[in-house]
Amino acid sequence: MRAVIFDLDGVVVNTAKYHYLGWKKLAKELGFDFDISHNERLKGVSRMESLNIVLEVGGITGYSEEEKQKLADRKNRYYLEMIESIDGSEILPGIPEFLEKLKNKGYQTALGSASKSGRMILEKLGLDSKFDVIVDGNLVERPKPDPEVFVKAAQLLGVPCEECIVVEDAQAGVQAAHAGGMKCIGIGDERILGEAEKVVSDTEELNRVDLERL
Ligand code: G6P
Ligand code: MG
Repeated sequence: MRAVIFDLDGVVVNTAKYHYLGWKKLAKELGFDFDISHNERLKGVSRMESLNIVLEVGGITGYSEEEKQKLADRKNRYYLEMIESIDGSEILPGIPEFLEKLKNKGYQTALGSASKSGRMILEKLGLDSKFDVIVDGNLVERPKPDPEVFVKAAQLLGVPCEECIVVEDAQAGVQAAHAGGMKCIGIGDERILGEAEKVVSDTEELNRVDLERL
């Protein structure tokens, strides 16, 4: 194994909760409650696809593409307002140590995130220099579970897909890693991420995974 590709929201940074709160606020304005039980479906999927899921949960149909774009933009404004003041305390536990350990062991590292704010968030937290390659939602067209985001990261690193390990907290992300021919470590619930080669309950535990025995 030569490289590790990280998802962002819910893996490197604790921003998944702000995506959820942004959608919840939008749903409230549209007249329904978007509760946490539906949130798993939003993880890892693109902004527009997330909107479609939120509208489906609310039983809302009939918006034109233009109206949907406006709703997605509105949620993004809420999200950007919420993350305006994030700082290093939102970096998930054990991630800086894990990145350091990978560097020392000679692994290359990349970001592979669907979020259009991916690079901006890493820069804000001073983490951009810790990744050899950054691929975010501005560089890809097809959302996870399509492997495009991870395959692009591998190409930019110059590492074959079979020698890359993806770290993911979303089911769509685990599927994307496998579709790209990569191994995957899931962060979270074994019942949801069980297809991954290894599932750990939190980011701290990444430091105890033997990457050569996945
Ligand atoms: C990640 C998150 C999703 C989010 C998506 C798009 O995959 O897990 O919750 O919707 O990125 O993010 P963006 O910042 O571009 O709206
Ligand atoms: Mg994620």
